[in-house]
Amino acid sequence: MKKLLLSFLLGCSVFVINAQSQSKNVKMDRFIDDLMGKMTIEEKIGQLNLPGSGDIVTGQAKSSDIAGKIKRGQVGGLFNIKGVEKIKDVQRVAVEESRLGIPLIFGMDVIHGYETVFPIPLGLSCTWNMAAIEQSARIAAIEASADGICWTFSPMVDIARDPRWGRISEGNGEDPYLGGQIAKAMVRGYQGTNDKTFTANDQIMACVKHYALYGAGEAGRDYNTVDMSRQRMYNEYFYPYQAAVEAGVGSVMASFNEVDGVPATGNRWLMTEVLRNQWGFNGFVVTDFTGIAEMTDHGIGDLQTVSARALNAGIDMDMVAEGFLNTIKKSYDEGKITKAEIDLACRRILEAKYKLGLFSDPYKYCDIERAKTDIYKPEHREIARKTAGESFVLLKNQNNLLPLDKKGTIAVVGPLGNTKENMPGTWSVAADFNKATTVVDGLKAVAGNRADIVYAKGSNLTADPVLEDRATMFDRSLKRDGRTEEELRNEALRIAGNADVIVATLGESSEYSGESSSRSEIGIPDVQQRLLQELLKTGKPVVLVLFTGRPLTLTWESENVPAILNVWFGGTEGAYAIGDVLFGDVNPSGKLTTTFPQNVGQIPLYYNHKNTGRPLAEGKWFEKFRSNYLDVSNDPVYPFGYGLSYTQFDYSDVKLSAATMDTAGKLTASVTVTNNGKMDGKEVVQLYIRDVAGSVTRPVKELKGFEKIFLKAGESRTVTFTITPELLKFYNYDLKYVFEPGDFDIMIGGNSHDVKSARFMLK
Ligand code: BGC
Repeated sequence: MKKLLLSFLLGCSVFVINAQSQSKNVKMDRFIDDLMGKMTIEEKIGQLNLPGSGDIVTGQAKSSDIAGKIKRGQVGGLFNIKGVEKIKDVQRVAVEESRLGIPLIFGMDVIHGYETVFPIPLGLSCTWNMAAIEQSARIAAIEASADGICWTFSPMVDIARDPRWGRISEGNGEDPYLGGQIAKAMVRGYQGTNDKTFTANDQIMACVKHYALYGAGEAGRDYNTVDMSRQRMYNEYFYPYQAAVEAGVGSVMASFNEVDGVPATGNRWLMTEVLRNQWGFNGFVVTDFTGIAEMTDHGIGDLQTVSARALNAGIDMDMVAEGFLNTIKKSYDEGKITKAEIDLACRRILEAKYKLGLFSDPYKYCDIERAKTDIYKPEHREIARKTAGESFVLLKNQNNLLPLDKKGTIAVVGPLGNTKENMPGTWSVAADFNKATTVVDGLKAVAGNRADIVYAKGSNLTADPVLEDRATMFDRSLKRDGRTEEELRNEALRIAGNADVIVATLGESSEYSGESSSRSEIGIPDVQQRLLQELLKTGKPVVLVLFTGRPLTLTWESENVPAILNVWFGGTEGAYAIGDVLFGDVNPSGKLTTTFPQNVGQIPLYYNHKNTGRPLAEGKWFEKFRSNYLDVSNDPVYPFGYGLSYTQFDYSDVKLSAATMDTAGKLTASVTVTNNGKMDGKEVVQLYIRDVAGSVTRPVKELKGFEKIFLKAGESRTVTFTITPELLKFYNYDLKYVFEPGDFDIMIGGNSHDVKSARFMLK
């Protein structure tokens, strides 16, 4: 009878927990209830621990540092271990040598591809091609899962308006709507579309990060303080995270920064109220690297205090800090943490493992045969090459200097033209640099023997060797040349002097952006800039092939260099794609997803800004007592949405199906786009809306739709957008998501600046 009563009571508490974790899978719940019934409190806490992996050697996993902890049930998962055999070995320790044999979850930063590396996310976003982005994530999932990985720390969807911040390279730029569409595409790509059940062994769990507002650190300095109004959070920064949740993302990573004076990792409002209660997220939340311990430096308490605070906030897994492992039991014994809180976090981790199918087969992602066939496959590389070509943004092309003919002598000059290590770009932890191709070899492959490709380094990355060292870490050295600036330049000028055209491969190295790589000046570095000036003085045609992980200040270059192709970091196949585009086999179609400012003083500069009470009149660049600067106009060098093509697209006026819409209705806005050039090409048709008068101030325009179309030379197409009241919603003063009657401007064009507009009224 006593036993019966106990199981009834247990059943009740489990019921409460289940209701909280919102799971509806009865079979799963029963399995986890049963398992948790056998777990000690220490084993439950162990599931919440995601330690650093240390150096695990294949065949010797049992003797690795981490093995002892695994055997004692003190590890829930591991991350950034590369190699299926190693992973299988470690999994075996968990399954065969820990008391309950609970399998581990293996994560990795698979950010823009695995061994087949795609463009950095900022570049990928410039494709505006959701199918291509989804496919890049699908291929990354296929390759990573073939190598033992079942969980990726991607997509990174932090809105960033400050290009000083190095991690702007890892996200999708400055627009929340576009960022949201990309978040959904990435989650679909990684997790697969068959109802989040991870049936196949190439479907992996995504982790949207860094929740929240990590891109808004003051002064663009990494990990820095964030302070913003809730209005701005909801209207301008939250949507991409929410979109990932809507797409069913399995996990969320907390950000390093504080939100409203409380570090995200310990912020219950953020982790529970918004994420779970408002958005309905029911997966698990992991901290970022040592995020819990860092709360001590943030200044909110010692390790025990901040660990308890994190668990209470809604964090389920502790990455590296071991605050949970070492202090939660104590907090529990002291009554500072409840059993229900520990159970809930543990349940969420076990649910993830269950959904991934690890309880049915802990080695589901350890198919050694797949590792041999599915990684860096020719088909994957072909797709990566196409995608890279679509990510490049043609910023300038005076007198149609591009595309180049495949003939004569082409001098590739610059420190980034003959390096493999630099090609994959930041956060490509699984990349094998030897498998990347240099720009020189890429151009040779595309031009065949029809053109002569010669090379000179021309300069180092920077004058300062210490800075170059920092910007080429993680084995990405550009092999600094010991010659003087003048010697290097003279050699380049000699080689360029005999060429028909100069391709200047300049800009940032891959670790010049990325984590902990903020810059206070964001131009092309000193020595390279001087080299570029000298190359232009030769009078030869110069094409700047710009490598960068962030918008750069290209004020001088935009005026003086005849052609600029921004190639970001195109990944392992980027060099071939550069050849494809430079020689015109591929017509560029990338459009910027971040504004390129004139100088650092204008930052933050973004297209979807507010109007202020003293806006500058259109076309002016200074007026006293207006919102502007004395010494620089308010304009960017290149606006959001901008990018040229080898052909020309013309837009008709906007046609609305009606001049008014009622709150239950809809209308359509159409434009006819014509390819008036000589080459077939793709164009991104962009829809912006302005709410002319609201109960709170509204941005001068906001992206609300886009369509990427292909038009043959001479062809026209009418593109139609459907406008519904839903599209007009925003968070009002009370943070209610509403639309408000009144006038709306519809703007359609090929970038955020050059648009055709029409007005309608919502009644
Ligand atoms: C980064 C995360 C990353 C994690 C694990 C952290 O330093 O901020 O983006 O996923 O490391 O490698």
